[in-house]
Amino acid sequence: MRISVIGCGYLGAVHAAAMAKLGHEVVGVDLDERKVAELQAGRAPFFEPGLPELLAEVQATGRLRFSTSVADAAGSQVHFVCVGTPQRKGEYAADLTFVDSAFAELAGYLHDGDIVVGKSTVPVGTAARLAEAVAAKAPGAVLAWNPEFLREGHAVADTLTPDRFVYGVPDGAPGEAATAALDEVYSAPLAEGTPRLVVDYATAELVKTAANSFLATKISFINAMAELCSAAGADVTKLADAIGMDNRIGRKFLNAGIGFGGGCLPKDIRAFMARAGELGADQALTFLREVDAINMRRRTRVVEMTRELCGGSLLGRRVTVLGAAFKPDSDDVRDSPALSVAAQLQLQGATVTVTDPEALQNAKARFPELHYEPVLDNALDGAYALLLLTEWKQYRNLDAAAVGAQVAEKNILDGRNVLDPAAWRAAGWNYKGIGRP
Ligand code: UDX
Repeated sequence: MRISVIGCGYLGAVHAAAMAKLGHEVVGVDLDERKVAELQAGRAPFFEPGLPELLAEVQATGRLRFSTSVADAAGSQVHFVCVGTPQRKGEYAADLTFVDSAFAELAGYLHDGDIVVGKSTVPVGTAARLAEAVAAKAPGAVLAWNPEFLREGHAVADTLTPDRFVYGVPDGAPGEAATAALDEVYSAPLAEGTPRLVVDYATAELVKTAANSFLATKISFINAMAELCSAAGADVTKLADAIGMDNRIGRKFLNAGIGFGGGCLPKDIRAFMARAGELGADQALTFLREVDAINMRRRTRVVEMTRELCGGSLLGRRVTVLGAAFKPDSDDVRDSPALSVAAQLQLQGATVTVTDPEALQNAKARFPELHYEPVLDNALDGAYALLLLTEWKQYRNLDAAAVGAQVAEKNILDGRNVLDPAAWRAAGWNYKGIGRP
């Protein structure tokens, strides 16, 4: 099929390449000239494991091209809209500027029979509104809403082997046409054995926000348990193992630490609350306020713990932060808890050095006031306290004895509970974890 993908961020770039791998003719469109130039040259414009290999593979087939002009989407049979929906400045609600402008532009190039597929995470009700706008300009085109559940750092695998497909479609013949088109897009091997749910627009939109809210709630639940474990002298990692063995609960997303960040969970729960308020259903989501509050409290707590680790005062203490990205295997620093903690420590008088294998360039753009050191050994040299805040493999595998020889004082705060406390203590370290005795 001929496919266009509007918006080539973490979602769209991977989606475009994956669709080309399936055998489709794909054009990816983005306003950012630098991004388009990189992708057109077969290079990934951001760090995502497996994406460079996938781009190289499909570039060789000639089935994937990129453009800065939506006009190049004309002639495609299926148009995926993958633009961002960030949080509005100073408000909880989602900013739909990019979605609205993508649809407004695209509408001028649609033909009868075209299928427009929204993938962006939007407030419930957006698809119905956009369907009317599409119908007004291109009555023969059909809108479907097909949320995406990929995780950064696993985006290629999540796109090529998804857990499920959710199609939000209108009633009747247009809905059947949209369903058939999406089935053809995702035809075997992708769709083989993968559950597919065909629902209405509102349900499809809500599936995405509900899933992200559930994940955020799971993380804040275990972080609340970590607070209790700290108060009671219990171990939250053992608690998570034990409750996670109940397969109604499950062990995934029960890792206590410095909380969730990134371009999705924080802003999605806030936008969900804002939308619920507009719908007169705000009471249903008041618990998400608490989920958010528990999450933000993690950051404050880590700053306090660092102060304790530094003997009661941060003034002039050399603190090294391991990790800037919001999670490992990503260079994304949007709402990164690690950088937020680093900035607060610096404000409170610590001399902070931040290191990260991939995210320093993005970190510098967001927090230019922080000091960055790309070489791990240099970052470790002379530190008074180490803070492991993003669990990159190279930090999880640090050797307690070797690192002990580099630092000024052997103080470590394991903000993701990924180190072995016994091994670090045996090597002479003052080890502090999250919710661990
Ligand atoms: C999330 C959803 O997982 C994905 O399905 C959706 O499509 C987009 O939003 P992503 O933002 O890439 O994906 O990251 P995710 O792996 O969900 O992690 C989010 C944050 O939660 C990270 O900061 C991570 O460190 C934190 N986290 C995750 C925890 O603190 N504890 C956990 O147990 C799991």
